[in-house]
Amino acid sequence: MIVTIDGPAGAGKSTIARQLADTLGFHFLDTGAMYRAITLGAIRKQIDFDDKEQLISYARNSTIDWHNDRILLNDGDVTQEIRSPVVTDSIKYVADVKEIREALSEQQRRIAQTQNIVTEGRDQGTDVFPNAGCKIFLTASPAERAQRRHQQLAELGRPIPVEQILEAQNRRDAEDRQRPQGALRPAEDAVIIHSDGLTFEAVVQKILIIFQEKKKKQQAQAYQQ
Ligand code: C5P
Repeated sequence: MIVTIDGPAGAGKSTIARQLADTLGFHFLDTGAMYRAITLGAIRKQIDFDDKEQLISYARNSTIDWHNDRILLNDGDVTQEIRSPVVTDSIKYVADVKEIREALSEQQRRIAQTQNIVTEGRDQGTDVFPNAGCKIFLTASPAERAQRRHQQLAELGRPIPVEQILEAQNRRDAEDRQRPQGALRPAEDAVIIHSDGLTFEAVVQKILIIFQEKKKKQQAQAYQQ
């Protein structure tokens, strides 16, 4: 079965999807990390972001793998570096390119072919897995998302004013929503969860209940056929 969790930056998707996958014994797929890895690789190779041909060729010829919780780009560990601000600020140059989205979507579908997965991103329930058995759109108010990020960074010893975080977050939300392909939006059959005021554990519990209902429905449908 495929569980998709889409939503804006800072809604807690990664933590929640990872915890959900652990509980269900499913494979966890962080598709944002794939876009981040290609962006980092293009920066390292000094590919001009306006040179679409070279970007596409680089993305098609790169391999992204996971080794436990580490992400490997062409066999090199990039787990830490893909989270750097310079990568975050440049992702749109990669994520806006249709051919790169197609190449990464293809890889995502291949991963899901042989195992149960919980996958998180922006376009998982819409473009990549339109037939997924359980679709969640996880969101929270911009203020709450920015506040959570502010707290996370402060705990890492990087206190950044919440207004600054909010501004960058609004910019990224707009880019993600306006993308011609793979735009951030809930699938028509997704269950929308607003996580304001909820702990991550409470959200995971909510999703588990939705998952069980969807699974029962799928089983009943399979029985009728
Ligand atoms: O989820 P994360 O914040 O790591 O994603 C980084 C960026 O990658 C997003 O802001 C979005 O622009 C892009 N992305 C995407 N499609 C996905 C996942 C991420 O375009 N499925």
